[in-house]
Amino acid sequence: MASVPHLDRRLVIVTGKGGTGKSTMATALALLAARRGQRVLVAEVNATERVAPLLGAPPAGPEIREARPGIFTVDVTPPASLREYGLHVVKLRAVYDAVFENRLVRHFLRVVPGLGELVMLGKILHEVRAEERGRPRWDQVIVDAPATGHAVQLLRVPGAMLGMVPPGPLRNDAQWMQAMLLDPARTAALLVTLPEEMPVTEAIELDQQLRERVGIIPAAVLVNAMPQRRFTAAQSARLGALAAAPPPVGAAARAARLQAVRSEHAERELSRLRSALRLPIACLPLLATTGWGTAEVERLADTLAGEDGASPWLA
Ligand SMILES: Nc1ncnc2c1ncn2[C@@H]1O[C@H](COP(=O)(O)OP(=O)(O)O)[C@@H](O)[C@H]1O
Ligand SMILES: [Mg+2]
Repeated sequence: MASVPHLDRRLVIVTGKGGTGKSTMATALALLAARRGQRVLVAEVNATERVAPLLGAPPAGPEIREARPGIFTVDVTPPASLREYGLHVVKLRAVYDAVFENRLVRHFLRVVPGLGELVMLGKILHEVRAEERGRPRWDQVIVDAPATGHAVQLLRVPGAMLGMVPPGPLRNDAQWMQAMLLDPARTAALLVTLPEEMPVTEAIELDQQLRERVGIIPAAVLVNAMPQRRFTAAQSARLGALAAAPPPVGAAARAARLQAVRSEHAERELSRLRSALRLPIACLPLLATTGWGTAEVERLADTLAGEDGASPWLA
């Protein structure tokens, strides 16, 4: 799939400012993987689940469920992940339940900083590593990661552990996690943004934080909800002149002018992003739709795959 560089890694981490379209992109990527015939897991991180509903399935909760053929989803939460980790260590459910009853689990999560992130990332990377009948359980694991600062907190856990934990199984785990996260051949971190001032500024900061605090060099930026350029600058100026015309022309001209101005603004923000980040950038269109479901996400997946004849990647 030549038009989709960086999107076919074993582990794909989708992050960016809240509301920029991370969950929508994670779902589109899952659809692309399923189109390639792959078996894919989308992990949301302690979120109000959005991915399974976008695929027309009920929320999965903390247990992995198949949302549609080939696409599985899960909502990874601190208590469920800690419980799983505890069971992994303690082995016996009855013992675990006696020792780690719910109140205690919540207490631990409150008082041990980073424990929630550790067990959630551990759970996700455990799935990346899991094998069934001698082959990987998942062809791809997509993480619908938290927004900016929380994503950095989540992803820097293995590195932080390496500085704290003495040699032993826990350290080996942290080492494996860190190697996986930092290996560009296996892991791609994608920054999602909108072509607007605050999201672009935040994407630039996130790129820097991932590099400096985590050691991850993002693979690419997805600029979502890019308004279409419909008018030339000259046409846009003429629309301004028509704004005072009697209805319906005046009202239509004002609406069109607004669209033109928005698109010019988006282009400016896109250029700012391009000059600040030396990363591949793909643009996804702003879809004029009120209801979001699988059909809308399929359209974004088509664009990502270059199915409408044009590559979404900027030259
Ligand atoms: N390309 C797009 N065009 C128009 N609306 C979009 C587009 N992508 C996402 N949206 C809408 O933007 C909102 C935020 O998307 P979502 O994926 O939930 O963001 P995030 O996960 O980053 O918080 C949703 O209502 C979604 O339907
Ligand atoms: Mg989301």
